[in-house]
Amino acid sequence: MIRKSRIFMMAFAVLGALVLMPNLAKAEKLHLDSAKVMGPDACGECHKSSVESWKGSHHFSTFKTLPRKKEAREVADKMGIKRIKADSDCLSCHFTSAMVNNKPKPIAGITCESCHGAGRDWIKVHSDFGGKGVKAENEAPAHKTERYAKSEAAGMIRPGNLYQVAQNCYGCHTVPNEKLVNVGGHAAGSKFELVAWSQGEVRHNVWYSKENQIAPVERQRMMYLVGRALDLEFSLRGVAKATTKADYAVKMAKRAKKARKRIKAIAKLVDAPELMAMYKAAKGVKLKLNNEAALTAAADAVGAQAMAMAKNYDGSKFGGLDQYLPKASKYKGK
Ligand code: HEC
Ligand code: HEC
Ligand code: HEC
Ligand code: HEC
Repeated sequence: MIRKSRIFMMAFAVLGALVLMPNLAKAEKLHLDSAKVMGPDACGECHKSSVESWKGSHHFSTFKTLPRKKEAREVADKMGIKRIKADSDCLSCHFTSAMVNNKPKPIAGITCESCHGAGRDWIKVHSDFGGKGVKAENEAPAHKTERYAKSEAAGMIRPGNLYQVAQNCYGCHTVPNEKLVNVGGHAAGSKFELVAWSQGEVRHNVWYSKENQIAPVERQRMMYLVGRALDLEFSLRGVAKATTKADYAVKMAKRAKKARKRIKAIAKLVDAPELMAMYKAAKGVKLKLNNEAALTAAADAVGAQAMAMAKNYDGSKFGGLDQYLPKASKYKGK
């Protein structure tokens, strides 16, 4: 009898492990490939002032502050997480991980590479003007074109590529993780608007000039447009993941509905047919549970239009949007 029950227990343990495995595999993937992450100190060798500016942001401080916060402990407990810095469900958004002794390990908060791409394959290329002694001023134009193309091909996200750089923000700030919200009680996304959230504590326009100036108004208009489009794209992706009628599904669907309305409203203010195309792609899709295929297809279509919009315009003709641009007093952080 005893023997038999032991065999049963063992069989049960194996079965349990098998059942658990897909859960582990399902844990949120890290935002970046750890093998390619160089860490902020590597960037700081040349971009000292960007690093200084970053150190004043929540993206920097979360590395130290988050694991000590009572609220974080509460979320982690509800999720069954013992060590916040060792579980990938927090790691994907709050931390940057690099390889330490052949294992991915969090080395900092949200870093340069979280937004500009993991640096291993492009750090050298993007900063080489054509050999020793050649400076930016006398770089051959063909070399510059090639340098940018090579850097992007190697994974660099340049600020000129507004859609791509901003996509990162929405991937974290919409908090597309159903369990984290429903079970963990985590905030169901930030009230994120790209101009206000990028021009406060996150702003680091300190390379091409020293003054850390606010983005020019034409750029702000493009940020506003691309940000609204991304909000729609990522909230549709968020609803696509919803499987249970609870906080996550309700709030994400609300977000998508609001984003859709806003796109329709701004489509009337500026001459960019991409906006109406985006709205049409998202209009018919049902914001309901277990509708992943249709919602993902709509999100892909919105994303394609947003990417085109970011490339096709420079904002100079979009004065109609100025009524929507946030005032400096609304910029997030310092
Ligand atoms: C060896 C020095 C050096 C290092 C290390 C370095 N950079 Fe740069 N970076 C430069 C130079 C030089 C430029 C200016 C390139 C230009 O004018 O096109 C630049 C430009 C940039 C730009 C702006 C590109 C654009 O399109 O305007 C970004 C973003 C950037 N670097 C990010 C990083 C990040 C992130 C890291 C760390 C992973 C890093 N850099 C490491 C030297 C460096
Ligand atoms: C999908 C991305 C994502 C994941 C995964 C995530 N967070 Fe967050 N978290 C955020 C964002 C974005 C904010 C900022 C919200 C804001 O300020 O609008 C935040 C804010 C917080 C805050 C409040 C901020 C503060 O410093 O007071 C706590 C606490 C927190 N997260 C805990 C956790 C814990 C614990 C985990 C892991 C179980 C986790 N988060 C996983 C995106 C995420
Ligand atoms: C939260 C995302 C994010 C983080 C973190 C971040 N950047 Fe940026 N970076 C951006 C965005 C967005 C822009 C374009 C801003 C604009 O146009 O106003 C930019 C612009 C730049 C530029 C061009 C600045 C100029 O003078 O025009 C450089 C260089 C740069 N980043 C390097 C870095 C380095 C180095 C770090 C780490 C210390 C870093 N970034 C961290 C998002 C980020
Ligand atoms: C890898 C995930 C990630 C990316 C990418 C990211 N953020 Fe964040 N961001 C967070 C988390 C997590 C927090 C909350 C940190 C904390 O307080 O503990 C945060 C906080 C912030 C804050 C401070 C909010 C406050 O409550 O004061 C601002 C502003 C911000 N992010 C702007 C941006 C912008 C703009 C971008 C894109 C250019 C961006 N973030 C990209 C994860 C991310």
